[in-house]
Amino acid sequence: MRADVAELAVEIGPLRLRNPFLLASGIWGESGESLAGAWDAGAGGVITKSIGSAPRPGYPNPTIESYSDWGLLNAMGLPNPGIEEYPREVAAARARGATVIGSVFGGDAEEFAELARRLAATGVVALELNLSCPHAEGYGTEVGSTPDDVAAIVRAVVREVRVPVIAKITPNTPDPAALAVAAEKAGAAAISAINTVRGLAIDATLHRPVLAHGLGGLSGPAIKPVGLACVWQIYSRVQVPVIGVGGISTSEDALEYLMAGARAVEVGTAVARDGIGVFGRLVSGLSERLDALGYRSAAAAVGAAHTAPS
Ligand SMILES: Cc1cc2nc3c(=O)[nH]c(=O)nc-3n(C[C@H](O)[C@H](O)[C@H](O)COP(=O)(O)O)c2cc1C
Repeated sequence: MRADVAELAVEIGPLRLRNPFLLASGIWGESGESLAGAWDAGAGGVITKSIGSAPRPGYPNPTIESYSDWGLLNAMGLPNPGIEEYPREVAAARARGATVIGSVFGGDAEEFAELARRLAATGVVALELNLSCPHAEGYGTEVGSTPDDVAAIVRAVVREVRVPVIAKITPNTPDPAALAVAAEKAGAAAISAINTVRGLAIDATLHRPVLAHGLGGLSGPAIKPVGLACVWQIYSRVQVPVIGVGGISTSEDALEYLMAGARAVEVGTAVARDGIGVFGRLVSGLSERLDALGYRSAAAAVGAAHTAPS
C-alpha cells in the first residue's frame, strides 16, 4: 500500500470539487440521467448542456465529423430543451447526489441574466456562461469576442445570482486572455478555457462542406496545445481560478493543464469517444502521477510550469 496519496479535491472560489475532473458542457449532459451517470463514474462535477430561453432543435445533420485520433468537428447548433423544461433534469441529477454546474447561452446580457437566474434556482452550485460557441448565429462567439461584451454579460449575471459565475471564453480571437481579464473585473469567480476552435471540413467528392452548417468547432486531442496556450496566458493575467478544457483524454493531459495554470479541467470529446469510464481512469491516473512526482495535492501542481527553473 502506498504511504502517500495526493489530495485530489480542489477549490474553485467557494466551490469544493472532490476531484478536478468536470464533465464538459454539451457532451453526455443533456439529461439528468446522463449527468448522474458521469457523476457516478467519478467526475468531480458535471456541467449541463448549454441551455437557452426556448427549445432549439439544433442544425440539420450532419452535425458531427469524426477525425478518429485527433478529434471531432461539430456544428450541433446548441440543441436544447429550453429553460422551461430543463430544471427537471437538474433535479434528477441532484437527487442522485451529483455536483451540477449549469451552463447557459443567450443573445445579450439581459437574456443571459434571466437564464442564469432561472437555472440558479434549480440548485446548481455554479453557472458557466457559454460566451464561446463558434458556430451558433447570434450566440457564443458572436456575443463574447470583445472584452466589453464579455464584461457586460458577466456583470449582468453576477448581479442576478449568488452562485459563482464561470466565464467560458473563446480561443477564436487574437487575445483570449483579455476576455478573461474583462470577465474577472466584471465579477467572474473563475474562467474556463477553451470552447471549440473554429474549423471546416470539405467533402471533395460532393464539392461542399461536410457539416450541413458549413463551419464547425474542432475539439479533442488536436486542440490541446491551443487550450494549454490559453490557460497559460490567462493564468498569468488573472487571480481567479482557471478551468482548462480542450483535448484532455489522459491523466498526463490533465497534469499538463494543471501545470499550465488550470485548477480544474473539463473533459468532453474523450467522453464521447471512450464513454464515461474515462473519469475513473483519469482520477486514478492523476493520483498516481502526482504521487510519482512528489506532489501532495492536485492544487500543489497548479501553475508549476510557470515557476520551474528553465
Ligand atoms: C458535440 C459537442 C457539443 C458541445 N456543446 C457545447 C455546449 O452546449 N456548450 C458549451 O459551452 N460547450 C460545448 N461544447 C464544447 C465543449 O464543452 C469543450 O469546450 C470542447 O469540446 C473542448 O473540449 P474537448 O476537447 O475535451 O472536447 C461542445 C463540444 C462538442 C464536441
